[in-house]
Amino acid sequence: MKLQASIETALNRQINHEMAAAYSYLAMEAWFEQQNLAGFATWMRVQREEELEHARLIFSYVHDRGGKVTLGAVDGPQGEFGSPREVFARASELERGNTKAIHEVYELALKEKDYATQSMLKWFIDEQVEEEKTTTEIEALLDMAGDNRSALLLLDAKLGSRGTGEG
Ligand code: FEO
Repeated sequence: MKLQASIETALNRQINHEMAAAYSYLAMEAWFEQQNLAGFATWMRVQREEELEHARLIFSYVHDRGGKVTLGAVDGPQGEFGSPREVFARASELERGNTKAIHEVYELALKEKDYATQSMLKWFIDEQVEEEKTTTEIEALLDMAGDNRSALLLLDAKLGSRGTGEG
């Protein structure tokens, strides 16, 4: 069954959300590089790659359903932050926004009785639970570290192992 126009539009919007998230994480990676926090920067790189993969999955799905991908503009992301804690507060906010966006597409797929899109989106719904949990956990760890530079460096080392199979 060919993709309905309303679902196609919503999925294209979601591709844009995922690309915007990737761009935001790229800006956060740059900020951490400037702070010489290479582990945090690595974490952001892996996160950005995940967002690009999310966009790619929806991109492929639109094509699988005979739809048309239409790419919109991606705004420049926030690039200045006051602290690592502020970066992760922004990351959590971004993920909550993305969860809301995915839920809206799912709502539409329910309304339009598009079962295939509902099924495809279930993976994203579960993934968002993980993403929100992870950024919130790091916020809590940063709260614990407070102004302690040694604790921050330990956290930097821990986050730097992401993507190596150890983090
Ligand atoms: Fe693709 Fe972080 O959600």
